[in-house]
Amino acid sequence: MKKKKSMIWINLALVFALIAGLAFPASDVSAASKPKQKKVLVVYFSATGTTKDAAQKVKKATGGKLYRIRAAKPYTEADLGYENDDCRANKEQSDKNARPKIKGKVKNIRKYDVIFIGYPIWWSKEPKIIRTFLESYNLKGKKIVPFCTSGGSGISGSMREVRASAKGAKVAKGKDLTDMSYKSVAKWAKKQVK
Ligand SMILES: Cc1cc2nc3c(=O)[nH]c(=O)nc-3n(C[C@H](O)[C@H](O)[C@H](O)COP(=O)(O)O)c2cc1C
Repeated sequence: MKKKKSMIWINLALVFALIAGLAFPASDVSAASKPKQKKVLVVYFSATGTTKDAAQKVKKATGGKLYRIRAAKPYTEADLGYENDDCRANKEQSDKNARPKIKGKVKNIRKYDVIFIGYPIWWSKEPKIIRTFLESYNLKGKKIVPFCTSGGSGISGSMREVRASAKGAKVAKGKDLTDMSYKSVAKWAKKQVK
């Protein structure tokens, strides 16, 4: 009698396991427990190509999609001549409300989890067009990772403005990638996506 009862329990357990197996196939279970791969966008603005090279390293390391910020009115050499107080770049940098227009838009920015944003340092800060970009999208909940290239000033002077413009986003500590090897950039970039 005792043996018969335990046989019933074993059979019930087998039936249950069979139903559970059908309802939750093994592949679904493992997919649910796998961490979702983060979608990465690598945005950059570059007037003379240095930041573009750094952005390409970040893209290669993260497998992200590259997006170049293009000014609606491209910067000429004269616009960038910072020895001249009246040049366009200097005038924009000294006007806190300047927001140079951008040509084009990122398609479906909603799908990205991590957005790297790279720029040259102009007068110790981000070019104003970076603020135009950040203020054009809903970045709530996204991770923003600033990087720059510079003649030595580094990125810290730009962080306050970048944080203020990336409303609702988690802004990581930025990094100056000037003259960094691919290996070093990749090590840093991969850490940001984890
Ligand atoms: C208008 C202007 C202002 C700049 N101001 C600074 C600065 O304050 N500090 C600095 O280290 N470099 C400064 N630079 C140098 C650039 O940050 C540097 O050359 C950068 O790598 C250029 O990047 P890009 O080739 O992607 O435009 C300035 C360059 C320009 C055109």
